[in-house]
Amino acid sequence: MSIVVLTGAGISAESGVATFRDADGLWEGHDVAQVATPEGFAADPNLVQRFYDERRASLASVEPNAAHLALAELEQELGDRLLVVTQNVDDLHERAGSKNVIHMHGQLRSVWCTACDARFKWDAPLVTNPPCPGCAVPNLRPDIVWFGEIPYQMDEIQQALLDADTFVSIGTSSEVYPAAGFVALASDVGARTLEINLHPSRMSRVYDEVRKGPATAVVREWVDEVLA
Ligand code: OAD
Repeated sequence: MSIVVLTGAGISAESGVATFRDADGLWEGHDVAQVATPEGFAADPNLVQRFYDERRASLASVEPNAAHLALAELEQELGDRLLVVTQNVDDLHERAGSKNVIHMHGQLRSVWCTACDARFKWDAPLVTNPPCPGCAVPNLRPDIVWFGEIPYQMDEIQQALLDADTFVSIGTSSEVYPAAGFVALASDVGARTLEINLHPSRMSRVYDEVRKGPATAVVREWVDEVLA
């Protein structure tokens, strides 16, 4: 058995982390282009640094929920036959105990030095323009993959999808590529595909099965079935 699970903002929603596409189309009151593109960062670096500083600081007040914990439990049983690919920049999968996790859109608790190209674990604000711990140049930016940038570890993800017999997406609107295309690739190579979401997504019709409901309940049920 080889399972790839793709997670999106919906898995962290019940932990109190805001999803990206609220009804008003804004992300915590901001236009996504303003805070999630290289152009937005160039136009107003302080606003963007403050935005991610707030998101990073708010991680201290959220906890993994039953869905993150169920996936960690599944990894305990399956080991490296389970890969979690997350679009989320929070650290709730790791705090739940998952180890085999790829953050394809980066992580809030990481910084990228655009002077020396190194990445570091990071918990402090960036709006103060601190020096890089490696080269001392104050050119740190959030280690987040913005629109127009290439997601991380795509070769590994593609290989895992080619090898998977089951592909499950949890709490993603499937509005953003390349993640939105993973189901088609998995399906093409014969994997069974399951979508778990509160609402239909843009890709629901492509899945073999769709289970509607909150991630905390539906992921738990699915993991229990796999472990039975
Ligand atoms: P979205 O905010 O686009 O979608 C969240 C999805 O979660 C929706 O389909 C909701 O129906 C679903 N949802 C909400 N609460 C849920 C719950 N309790 N249980 C199950 N499902 C629930 O978030 P993503 O699809 O993750 O990229 O967004 C993809 C990417 O767009 C993000 O990674 C981010 C953003 O721009 C970057 O930052 C690069």
